[in-house]
Amino acid sequence: MKILIINGPNLNLLGRREPGIYGSDTFEDYFAQLQEEQSDIHLEYFQSNVEGAIVDRLHQAGFGKDANLSEGECHPDGGMVDGIVLNAGAYTHTSVAIHDAIKAISIPVIEVHISNVHQREEFRHHSFISPAAAGIIVGFGLNGYRLAIEGLKEMIEEE
Ligand code: DQA
Repeated sequence: MKILIINGPNLNLLGRREPGIYGSDTFEDYFAQLQEEQSDIHLEYFQSNVEGAIVDRLHQAGFGKDANLSEGECHPDGGMVDGIVLNAGAYTHTSVAIHDAIKAISIPVIEVHISNVHQREEFRHHSFISPAAAGIIVGFGLNGYRLAIEGLKEMIEEE
C-alpha cells in the first residue's frame, strides 16, 4: 500500500515557524520516525509552496502517467498512490483548484491541520478542502498525520 503525505505552503519551515503553534520538530525528523513505524506500507512525502505543483502532484497520484504533465513535472515512477494525507496550509482557505483536483481523483484524501484552526482567526474557519475530503483531522499537532494514516489504511483495506 502506498500513502502520500502532501504539505502545502510554509510547512517546509516546521520546527522554525511559530513554534508556539506548530511545535519545534522538523517535518523531516517526524517523517523519518513515521516511516520507521509504518514499515508495512510505502510512505512518500511531497511539499510545495506552489498551488499548481500541489494540483499536479494530486493528478499524478490519481492518474499516474496519464496525467498529461510535461516531463519535468512528472513523478519518476508515475506517482500513483492508494491514499493521500493533505495539509494544504493556507491554500486550505483559498484554493478552489485544490478542491477540484481532489474531486477529480478517486483515491481518498484525508485533510490534516496541525493546529485547531477553529480556535484561531476567523479566516481559518472555512476550508475548501473539507467538502472534497474523505476525512478530517484537526488540532492534534504532528500526531494528526499518524492518525490520518491509521484511518486511511483501514479505509483502503475496506474498499
Ligand atoms: C495549518 C493551518 C492553516 O490555517 C495555516 O495556514 C497553515 C497550517 C495547520 O496545519 O494548522 O499553514 O494548515
